[in-house]
Amino acid sequence: MYKINENYLKLPGSYLFSTIGKKVNAYSAAHPEKKIIRLGIGDVTQPLAPAIVKALHGAVEEMGREETFQGYAPDLGYAFLRETIAECDYRSRGCDIEADEIFISDGAKCDCGNIQEIFSMDNRIAVCDPVYPVYVDSNVMAGRTGTYDRRRETWSDVIYMPCTAENDFVPELPEKGKEPDLIYLCFPNNPTGSAITKAELQRWVDYANQVGAVILYDAAYEAYITEDNIPHSIFECQGAGSCAIEFRSFSKNAGFTGLRLGFTVIPKN
Ligand SMILES: Cc1ncc(COP(=O)(O)O)c(C=O)c1O
Repeated sequence: MYKINENYLKLPGSYLFSTIGKKVNAYSAAHPEKKIIRLGIGDVTQPLAPAIVKALHGAVEEMGREETFQGYAPDLGYAFLRETIAECDYRSRGCDIEADEIFISDGAKCDCGNIQEIFSMDNRIAVCDPVYPVYVDSNVMAGRTGTYDRRRETWSDVIYMPCTAENDFVPELPEKGKEPDLIYLCFPNNPTGSAITKAELQRWVDYANQVGAVILYDAAYEAYITEDNIPHSIFECQGAGSCAIEFRSFSKNAGFTGLRLGFTVIPKN
């Protein structure tokens, strides 16, 4: 007799954005004349760039010819892409990242959600508050978050790190005695839009190395950084190679939300 994973039943609602989508659909059906300003899931607004469209057409042509047809891609991604990312996104910024430390995937959301599976169940997670919902929801489904307080809308075993105007939307290090094992950081941040300076991020890297935590760093929005003192990658910080995993996406910089492409960087040391 099959049994449902009880942890799924603990989720207080469905995934936040699908709940918002349902509410918006119900409202527009009931009020077709109303104009709606959508503050739920964001999407890109521009079509694919001509160079991407040309490359996609070329790839389809390749797949249609016997001499150039390709079946399954290499499981960790095509070498040409991993090499290009290592060079253009990392080594050109002084980060010591090799192609074999880059894993091509179908998007940052999947990787941010799946990564927790490689960690033990008794790891304690810390998240910014407010936060992109995938980090907490995937840990709820795994059974790592304890019990849910409906009134406070918080989980008993999650360390919440408030990001408010008072701290300039950059979380403070957790209190002594409340050290997390997995720290989810996202900069530039969704939903606050705030960025973190290199000096501030270095404090987090030093802290993680000191307490033996792993920083799961979501840099999906790095392409929007224009200031010199804001790092595009956590690997711009000294010592990040021994405590950080970074998630990147082609959704925001190249309009790949529908195509699905991202990558995760896990340094060897
Ligand atoms: C912080 C953050 N990470 C990851 C994603 C998802 O990226 P992808 O489209 O590559 O799955 C989003 C999308 O909204 C996001 O806001």
